[in-house]
Amino acid sequence: MALAIHARDMTEIQDNAIYNMDCIQGMKLLPPGHVDLIITDPPFAIDFKARRTNYNRTQSRVMDGYNEIPAEEYLDFTRSWMREAYRVLSETGSAFIFSGWNNLKDILIAIDDVGFVTVNHIIWKYQFGVVCKRRFVTSHYHCLFVCKDDTKRKFFNSARFQKQDVSKTGKSLRYQDLEDVWVIKREYWHGDKKTPTKLPAAIINKILSYTSEEGDLVLDPFLGSGQTAVVSKQNKRRYIGFEIVPEYYQFARERLETDNYRLPSEDQAAKATAEVMLWD
Ligand SMILES: C[S@@+](CC[C@H](N)C(=O)[O-])C[C@H]1O[C@@H](n2cnc3c(N)ncnc32)[C@H](O)[C@@H]1O
Repeated sequence: MALAIHARDMTEIQDNAIYNMDCIQGMKLLPPGHVDLIITDPPFAIDFKARRTNYNRTQSRVMDGYNEIPAEEYLDFTRSWMREAYRVLSETGSAFIFSGWNNLKDILIAIDDVGFVTVNHIIWKYQFGVVCKRRFVTSHYHCLFVCKDDTKRKFFNSARFQKQDVSKTGKSLRYQDLEDVWVIKREYWHGDKKTPTKLPAAIINKILSYTSEEGDLVLDPFLGSGQTAVVSKQNKRRYIGFEIVPEYYQFARERLETDNYRLPSEDQAAKATAEVMLWD
Protein backbone atom coordinates (compact mmCIF):
# COMPACT_ATOMS: atom_id res chain seq x y z
CA MET A 1 0.00 0.00 0.00
CA ALA A 2 1.39 3.40 -0.96
CA LEU A 3 2.18 5.61 1.97
CA ALA A 4 1.21 9.22 1.31
CA ILE A 5 1.51 11.76 4.08
CA HIS A 6 0.31 15.33 4.44
CA ALA A 7 3.55 16.73 5.70
CA ARG A 8 3.98 20.48 6.18
CA ASP A 9 5.66 19.95 9.53
CA MET A 10 7.69 16.90 8.64
CA THR A 11 11.15 16.42 10.07
CA GLU A 12 11.85 13.14 8.35
CA ILE A 13 11.13 11.98 4.81
CA GLN A 14 10.16 8.37 4.17
CA ASP A 15 10.44 6.30 0.99
CA ASN A 16 7.26 5.49 -0.96
CA ALA A 17 5.66 8.70 0.25
CA ILE A 18 4.77 12.07 -1.23
CA TYR A 19 4.64 15.38 0.58
CA ASN A 20 2.59 18.55 0.24
CA MET A 21 5.46 20.96 0.77
CA ASP A 22 8.07 23.13 -0.88
CA CYS A 23 10.61 20.81 -2.48
CA ILE A 24 13.64 22.81 -1.37
CA GLN A 25 12.58 22.42 2.27
CA GLY A 26 11.70 18.78 1.60
CA MET A 27 15.00 17.87 -0.03
CA LYS A 28 16.90 19.48 2.87
CA LEU A 29 15.45 16.71 5.05
CA LEU A 30 17.05 13.99 2.90
CA PRO A 31 20.57 12.69 3.59
CA PRO A 32 23.28 13.25 0.94
CA GLY A 33 23.42 10.65 -1.85
CA HIS A 34 20.05 9.20 -0.83
CA VAL A 35 18.30 8.91 -4.21
CA ASP A 36 19.18 6.87 -7.30
CA LEU A 37 17.30 8.82 -9.96
CA ILE A 38 15.65 12.22 -10.31
CA ILE A 39 13.00 12.81 -12.97
CA THR A 40 11.54 16.28 -12.85
CA ASP A 41 9.66 18.87 -14.78
CA PRO A 42 9.97 22.14 -12.82
CA PRO A 43 7.64 25.12 -13.35
CA PHE A 44 8.66 26.98 -16.50
CA ALA A 45 8.34 30.67 -15.49
CA ILE A 46 5.82 31.46 -18.19
CA ASP A 47 2.52 33.07 -17.35
CA PHE A 48 0.87 29.67 -17.46
CA LYS A 49 -2.57 30.71 -16.24
CA ALA A 50 -2.90 33.28 -19.00
CA ARG A 51 -1.97 30.68 -21.56
CA ARG A 52 -4.17 27.90 -20.26
CA THR A 53 -7.06 28.87 -22.50
CA ASN A 54 -4.77 28.16 -25.46
CA TYR A 55 -4.86 24.52 -24.57
CA ASN A 56 -7.51 22.38 -26.17
CA ARG A 57 -9.14 21.21 -22.97
CA THR A 58 -12.40 21.46 -21.08
CA GLN A 59 -11.42 23.99 -18.43
CA SER A 60 -13.61 22.56 -15.65
CA ARG A 61 -11.67 19.29 -15.57
CA VAL A 62 -8.27 20.97 -15.34
CA MET A 63 -7.47 21.65 -11.71
CA ASP A 64 -6.50 25.18 -10.66
CA GLY A 65 -3.57 26.28 -8.57
CA TYR A 66 -0.47 25.72 -10.68
CA ASN A 67 2.43 27.35 -8.84
CA GLU A 68 4.50 29.42 -11.30
CA ILE A 69 7.76 31.28 -10.65
CA PRO A 70 8.24 34.88 -11.90
CA ALA A 71 10.79 35.02 -14.77
CA GLU A 72 13.11 37.41 -12.89
CA GLU A 73 13.40 34.95 -9.98
CA TYR A 74 13.78 31.85 -12.12
CA LEU A 75 17.58 31.54 -12.12
CA ASP A 76 17.87 31.91 -8.33
CA PHE A 77 14.97 29.53 -7.80
CA THR A 78 16.51 27.00 -10.21
CA ARG A 79 19.92 27.17 -8.54
CA SER A 80 18.31 26.67 -5.11
CA TRP A 81 16.36 23.52 -5.91
CA MET A 82 19.09 22.09 -8.12
CA ARG A 83 21.74 22.51 -5.42
CA GLU A 84 19.60 20.28 -3.16
CA ALA A 85 18.91 17.83 -6.01
CA TYR A 86 22.67 17.53 -6.58
CA ARG A 87 23.31 16.92 -2.89
CA VAL A 88 20.71 14.16 -2.52
CA LEU A 89 21.65 12.28 -5.73
CA SER A 90 23.92 9.24 -5.36
CA GLU A 91 27.28 8.97 -7.19
CA THR A 92 25.80 6.21 -9.39
CA GLY A 93 22.61 8.18 -10.06
CA SER A 94 21.26 10.30 -12.90
CA ALA A 95 18.85 13.20 -13.19
CA PHE A 96 16.50 14.08 -16.05
CA ILE A 97 15.41 17.71 -15.99
CA PHE A 98 12.71 18.89 -18.41
CA SER A 99 12.49 22.45 -19.66
CA GLY A 100 10.66 24.52 -22.22
CA TRP A 101 12.85 26.70 -24.45
CA ASN A 102 11.84 29.99 -22.75
CA ASN A 103 13.97 29.54 -19.66
CA LEU A 104 16.34 26.89 -20.87
CA LYS A 105 19.33 29.18 -20.42
CA ASP A 106 18.66 29.40 -16.66
CA ILE A 107 18.44 25.62 -16.40
CA LEU A 108 21.74 25.20 -18.29
CA ILE A 109 23.50 27.83 -16.14
CA ALA A 110 22.26 26.19 -12.94
CA ILE A 111 23.35 22.72 -14.13
CA ASP A 112 26.92 24.04 -14.53
CA ASP A 113 26.83 26.11 -11.33
CA VAL A 114 25.80 23.24 -9.05
CA GLY A 115 28.36 20.86 -10.61
CA PHE A 116 26.25 18.41 -12.62
CA VAL A 117 27.91 16.71 -15.61
CA THR A 118 25.73 16.82 -18.75
CA VAL A 119 25.38 13.41 -20.40
CA ASN A 120 22.82 14.21 -23.13
CA HIS A 121 20.64 17.07 -24.24
CA ILE A 122 17.49 15.20 -25.27
CA ILE A 123 14.68 16.67 -27.36
CA TRP A 124 11.20 15.36 -26.65
CA LYS A 125 9.13 15.89 -29.82
CA TYR A 126 5.39 15.64 -29.19
CA GLN A 127 2.62 15.31 -31.74
CA PHE A 128 1.36 18.89 -31.97
CA GLY A 129 1.58 22.26 -30.27
CA VAL A 130 -0.44 25.46 -30.27
CA VAL A 131 -0.83 26.91 -33.77
CA CYS A 132 0.55 30.47 -34.07
CA LYS A 133 0.10 33.00 -36.87
CA ARG A 134 3.51 34.69 -36.77
CA ARG A 135 5.97 32.03 -35.69
CA PHE A 136 6.64 28.32 -35.93
CA VAL A 137 4.68 25.92 -33.74
CA THR A 138 6.55 24.80 -30.64
CA SER A 139 6.28 21.01 -30.56
CA HIS A 140 9.21 19.98 -28.40
CA TYR A 141 10.62 20.13 -24.89
CA HIS A 142 14.20 19.90 -23.74
CA CYS A 143 15.36 17.22 -21.33
CA LEU A 144 18.78 17.47 -19.72
CA PHE A 145 20.25 14.11 -18.74
CA VAL A 146 22.86 14.90 -16.07
CA CYS A 147 24.83 13.07 -13.38
CA LYS A 148 27.41 13.57 -10.64
CA ASP A 149 30.03 11.10 -11.88
CA ASP A 150 30.00 10.05 -15.53
CA THR A 151 32.16 6.97 -14.82
CA LYS A 152 29.85 5.62 -12.10
CA ARG A 153 26.33 6.31 -13.35
CA LYS A 154 24.11 3.35 -14.32
CA PHE A 155 23.08 2.89 -17.94
CA PHE A 156 21.50 -0.29 -19.33
CA ASN A 157 21.75 0.13 -23.09
CA SER A 158 19.93 -3.12 -23.92
CA ALA A 159 17.11 -2.49 -21.46
CA ARG A 160 14.42 -2.34 -24.15
CA PHE A 161 15.89 -3.75 -27.37
CA GLN A 162 18.65 -6.22 -28.16
CA LYS A 163 21.32 -5.70 -30.81
CA GLN A 164 19.55 -8.09 -33.24
CA ASP A 165 16.07 -6.46 -32.95
CA VAL A 166 15.15 -4.82 -36.25
CA SER A 167 12.10 -3.03 -37.66
CA LYS A 168 10.14 -4.28 -40.71
CA THR A 169 12.40 -2.14 -42.89
CA GLY A 170 15.56 -3.63 -41.37
CA LYS A 171 16.48 -0.69 -39.12
CA SER A 172 18.01 -1.33 -35.68
CA LEU A 173 15.32 -0.76 -33.04
CA ARG A 174 17.94 -0.41 -30.32
CA TYR A 175 19.74 2.33 -32.23
CA GLN A 176 16.45 4.18 -32.85
CA ASP A 177 15.47 3.96 -29.19
CA LEU A 178 18.88 5.27 -28.13
CA GLU A 179 18.76 8.39 -30.29
CA ASP A 180 18.53 11.70 -28.40
CA VAL A 181 15.36 12.85 -30.15
CA TRP A 182 12.39 11.12 -28.54
CA VAL A 183 9.15 11.18 -30.52
CA ILE A 184 6.53 10.50 -27.88
CA LYS A 185 2.87 11.51 -27.83
CA ARG A 186 1.37 13.62 -25.09
CA GLU A 187 -1.43 11.89 -23.21
CA TYR A 188 -4.91 13.36 -23.48
CA TRP A 189 -7.14 12.18 -20.68
CA HIS A 190 -10.50 13.00 -22.24
CA GLY A 191 -13.17 13.44 -19.60
CA ASP A 192 -10.91 12.60 -16.63
CA LYS A 193 -9.49 14.81 -13.90
CA LYS A 194 -6.14 16.33 -14.86
CA THR A 195 -3.54 18.95 -14.00
CA PRO A 196 -2.47 21.51 -16.63
CA THR A 197 0.79 19.75 -17.59
CA LYS A 198 1.92 16.18 -17.29
CA LEU A 199 4.72 13.95 -18.55
CA PRO A 200 3.53 10.94 -20.58
CA ALA A 201 4.06 7.57 -18.87
CA ALA A 202 6.03 6.45 -21.97
CA ILE A 203 8.78 8.99 -21.21
CA ILE A 204 9.06 7.97 -17.57
CA ASN A 205 9.05 4.26 -18.49
CA LYS A 206 11.89 4.87 -20.93
CA ILE A 207 14.03 6.76 -18.40
CA LEU A 208 13.38 4.17 -15.69
CA SER A 209 14.36 1.27 -17.98
CA TYR A 210 17.67 2.75 -19.13
CA THR A 211 18.92 4.30 -15.90
CA SER A 212 17.47 2.45 -12.91
CA GLU A 213 16.81 -0.99 -11.44
CA GLU A 214 13.98 -2.47 -9.40
CA GLY A 215 14.11 -1.18 -5.84
CA ASP A 216 15.92 2.06 -6.79
CA LEU A 217 14.68 5.26 -5.21
CA VAL A 218 13.23 7.84 -7.65
CA LEU A 219 12.69 11.47 -6.63
CA ASP A 220 10.50 14.09 -8.29
CA PRO A 221 10.70 17.47 -6.48
CA PHE A 222 7.85 18.89 -8.67
CA LEU A 223 5.26 16.13 -8.75
CA GLY A 224 2.26 17.86 -10.35
CA SER A 225 -0.15 15.02 -11.11
CA GLY A 226 2.26 12.52 -9.55
CA GLN A 227 3.28 10.89 -12.84
CA THR A 228 6.88 10.13 -11.78
CA ALA A 229 5.79 8.49 -8.53
CA VAL A 230 2.86 6.60 -10.10
CA VAL A 231 4.93 5.17 -12.96
CA SER A 232 7.89 4.42 -10.66
CA LYS A 233 5.57 2.47 -8.39
CA GLN A 234 4.18 0.54 -11.39
CA ASN A 235 7.80 -0.37 -12.26
CA LYS A 236 8.68 -1.59 -8.73
CA ARG A 237 10.88 1.41 -7.95
CA ARG A 238 10.64 3.25 -4.64
CA TYR A 239 9.62 6.90 -4.87
CA ILE A 240 9.62 10.23 -3.05
CA GLY A 241 7.95 13.39 -4.29
CA PHE A 242 7.02 16.93 -3.33
CA GLU A 243 4.17 19.13 -4.59
CA ILE A 244 3.37 22.55 -3.19
CA VAL A 245 -0.23 22.90 -4.47
CA PRO A 246 -2.61 21.02 -2.13
CA GLU A 247 -5.09 20.04 -4.90
CA TYR A 248 -2.36 18.49 -7.06
CA TYR A 249 -0.87 16.73 -4.06
CA GLN A 250 -4.29 15.25 -3.20
CA PHE A 251 -4.75 14.16 -6.80
CA ALA A 252 -1.33 12.44 -6.91
CA ARG A 253 -1.98 10.88 -3.52
CA GLU A 254 -5.33 9.44 -4.63
CA ARG A 255 -3.73 7.98 -7.75
CA LEU A 256 -0.99 6.32 -5.66
CA GLU A 257 -3.30 5.02 -2.95
CA THR A 258 -5.90 3.59 -5.31
CA ASP A 259 -3.45 2.39 -7.98
CA ASN A 260 -5.75 4.00 -10.54
CA TYR A 261 -3.77 5.66 -13.32
CA ARG A 262 -6.68 7.94 -14.26
CA LEU A 263 -9.41 9.32 -12.01
CA PRO A 264 -12.85 10.37 -13.28
CA SER A 265 -13.71 14.08 -13.08
CA GLU A 266 -16.50 15.09 -10.71
CA ASP A 267 -19.03 15.58 -13.55
CA GLN A 268 -18.11 12.17 -14.94
CA ALA A 269 -18.39 10.52 -11.50
CA ALA A 270 -21.78 12.21 -10.95
CA LYS A 271 -22.95 10.95 -14.36
CA ALA A 272 -21.85 7.40 -13.50
CA THR A 273 -23.71 7.57 -10.16
CA ALA A 274 -26.84 8.85 -11.89
CA GLU A 275 -26.64 5.99 -14.40
CA VAL A 276 -26.32 3.43 -11.58
CA MET A 277 -29.34 5.00 -9.81
CA LEU A 278 -31.35 4.75 -13.03
CA TRP A 279 -30.64 1.03 -13.20
CA ASP A 280 -31.40 0.38 -9.51
C1 LIG B 1 5.43 21.36 -14.77
S1 LIG B 1 4.58 20.86 -13.34
C2 LIG B 1 5.02 19.18 -13.11
C3 LIG B 1 4.17 18.24 -13.88
C4 LIG B 1 4.49 16.78 -13.61
N1 LIG B 1 5.75 16.38 -14.20
C5 LIG B 1 3.38 15.86 -14.10
O1 LIG B 1 3.68 14.95 -14.91
O2 LIG B 1 2.23 16.05 -13.69
C6 LIG B 1 5.47 21.65 -12.03
C7 LIG B 1 4.83 21.48 -10.67
O3 LIG B 1 5.69 22.00 -9.67
C8 LIG B 1 4.88 22.55 -8.63
N2 LIG B 1 5.74 23.44 -7.83
C9 LIG B 1 6.11 24.72 -8.12
N3 LIG B 1 6.94 25.18 -7.17
C10 LIG B 1 7.15 24.18 -6.27
C11 LIG B 1 7.94 24.03 -5.10
N4 LIG B 1 8.70 25.04 -4.64
N5 LIG B 1 7.93 22.84 -4.44
C12 LIG B 1 7.15 21.81 -4.89
N6 LIG B 1 6.35 21.89 -5.99
C13 LIG B 1 6.37 23.06 -6.68
C14 LIG B 1 3.74 23.22 -9.40
O4 LIG B 1 2.62 23.44 -8.58
C15 LIG B 1 3.49 22.18 -10.51
O5 LIG B 1 2.51 21.26 -10.13
